[in-house]
Formats: sequence, C-alpha cells, structure tokens
Amino acid sequence: MDHLVSPSLLAADFGNLGKDIKMVNNSAADWLHLDIMDGVFVPNISFGFPVLEFVRKLSEKPLDVHLMIIDPDRYLSRFRDAGASILTVQYEACNHLQRTVTEIKELGMKAGVALNPHTPVTHLKNTLPYIDMVLIMTVNPGFGGQKFIAESYNKILEMRDMIDTGGYETLIEVDGGIDTGNAAKLIKSGVNVLVAGNSVFSSANPSDTILRLKNLT
Ligand code: DX5
Ligand code: ZN
Repeated sequence: MDHLVSPSLLAADFGNLGKDIKMVNNSAADWLHLDIMDGVFVPNISFGFPVLEFVRKLSEKPLDVHLMIIDPDRYLSRFRDAGASILTVQYEACNHLQRTVTEIKELGMKAGVALNPHTPVTHLKNTLPYIDMVLIMTVNPGFGGQKFIAESYNKILEMRDMIDTGGYETLIEVDGGIDTGNAAKLIKSGVNVLVAGNSVFSSANPSDTILRLKNLT
C-alpha cells in the first residue's frame, strides 16, 4: 500500500487552531495526529476532550489519537465519542493489553499500540493478531521537536518481519523527529504511516511539506 501521512497537531499554532486544521483539510494528509499527554506517563501535559471535540468539528481527516496516559481503559469510550477513528495506547501503560485493544475495536475504532524506544518489538508477538497498527516511537514521548533515534530503523525492520511472517495486515506508524530527510528510508524499512509535527508546522509551507512527505517513495 501507499504510505499515509498524519501531521501532528501538537506543533500547530494553538492561538489559531482552526486555520491549521483547515490547512490540513486542504492538504495531501491522510489523517490528523492528536497527542494526549497526562503529565504522569510522560513529563508533559497537552490537551484533552474540549480541544478534541473542537478539532473533530473542523477536521475532514480521520482523527489518529495517540494516548500517552496511564490506565487508558478509563477513557476509551470517551475518546470514541470525541471523534477518534484510530486510538493508540502505549504498551507500557497497559496491564491487560489484549483486553484493551479488543475493547477499542468493539467501540468501532482501529486499535493501535505504541512502543517506547526501550520496548522490544518481540513484546507484541502474541498480541499482534489483535492490533490494527503498531506505533514505533522514534523519540521518547512527551515533546515535539526532538531528535529521531537512529536505532529505530532496526526496530522497524524487525517489526516488518514479524508482521509479514505472521501474515498480518498490521500497519506500522512512526512518530518523533520525522522529516523529509529520514522519511524515505523509513518507508523503505517498512513503515506505512508517517507522523510529523515540527517538520510540517515549522516549515515555510506546511501544505507543501505534507505533499513532499506523501510523494516520497
Ligand atoms: C511526541 C508525540 C509526537 C510529536 C511529534 O511525544 O507523540 O506525536 O507531536 O512531534 P515531532 O514530529 O515534532 O517530533
Ligand atoms: Zn504522537
């Protein structure tokens, strides 16, 4: 399949969110990535339901919601009601991962599982049949604008091999430090979905940067 591009709204102008969402609507982006941080799982707090509901009203792209929160089970249905199409939980924040991803799917969303840089892909071996998407964090989560961790390439190759060997359809998404300089190698390594925050919203022409990420082969 062709790869997808999911701009991360964390790097947008929160004083003018409507303008940036419309830019994404009119761009080659496939999804819109939304980072929910609780100040406990990660050392930062981002935004919650009121912002998400505002985004939902304006966005014409499916909402790709990345939860960096402890005990996400408490909020799965609320994120569905707030407009999430893809809901990703962090592996490290779940005590009963198979139950969590099953519930996400029963709620009518695609289920994603994110792995921190220190979490081996093999930890997902027995859960892979239940997961629609694996998000390989290419930075330690919590902040935009961090440097891409180069070891991620090996991890992606390993994950791609596990998915293909098992005959699964699971997508691989990457998030953190992605730009037009490293994206082509990521796609070649087996990535299906590129998340990009600062490289899009801090560029001179964000819509053009999205198109350049989309057109890479
Ligand atoms: C980081 C978040 C990312 C962040 C990426 O914890 O999960 O989605 O917005 O930002 P960039 O692309 O600037 O690294
Ligand atoms: Zn994210």
